[in-house]
Amino acid sequence: MLRLGVNVDHSATLRQARYPDGIGEPDPVAFALRCEAAGAHGITAHLREDRRHIQDRDLWALRDRLTIALNFEMANTEEMIGIAEKLRPQCACIVPEKREELTTEGGLDVRGSVGPLRRACQRLQAAGITVSLFVDAEPDQIDATAETGAEFVELHTGPYAEAWTASPERRIAESRRLVEAAARARSNGIAVNLGHGLNYENVRDVLVFPGIHELNIGHSIVSRALFSGVDTAVKDMLVAMQDYQPGSSTFQAG
Ligand code: PXP
Repeated sequence: MLRLGVNVDHSATLRQARYPDGIGEPDPVAFALRCEAAGAHGITAHLREDRRHIQDRDLWALRDRLTIALNFEMANTEEMIGIAEKLRPQCACIVPEKREELTTEGGLDVRGSVGPLRRACQRLQAAGITVSLFVDAEPDQIDATAETGAEFVELHTGPYAEAWTASPERRIAESRRLVEAAARARSNGIAVNLGHGLNYENVRDVLVFPGIHELNIGHSIVSRALFSGVDTAVKDMLVAMQDYQPGSSTFQAG
């Protein structure tokens, strides 16, 4: 079964647009609990350095109230590692973070910071947290991820999502990159998640990528929830994902 992790950051973005002190509607914790009730397998929340959407107290409430896994998305900073050590979510996904970016724009440069990332993984794992690194689908970044001791890699599907609407050739090329990167990660003993830019349409092709553990999806689910409600938005995505074949090798690289 392909697991669905829902990223609830954008429900908090909507709240912050009106209530910069973070007290008001919509409550991302209530949003997450609706996702859980609708069948989501996990919830992701990114505590940014600038607190632009998720606030610290949201994380504690998520940790206390969810029965499904909480994935704490975080930059590799002393502040965030300290919070993770106290929070003890089931998982943490380390991402690069730039203040001026609209959303996470690229994967980590793992090759350029194996040492600091290895130390972060060790501290998080010592707190009982499973660690994932968000990386681009590049062979050397995958090999470097193996050197950090992270249990998971989350492959950045942003380029795939862009390619999906660009041309069939680019779609095939980006799909191939993801399939090859996932195979390389697994051969290094690393489990594979995918995330960023996935939606109800482009998720279709992912169903033939072998050996994927979880999809982390935020924007498209939050957007659909505005029209259909959270329950339908989550269930529609679960239906879109239900034909996944974990051992599938039907991907046609052209
Ligand atoms: N995974 C990571 C590491 C992310 O930074 C994001 C965006 O916050 C997502 C998944 C979800 O991306 P989207 O909102 O485009 O579905």
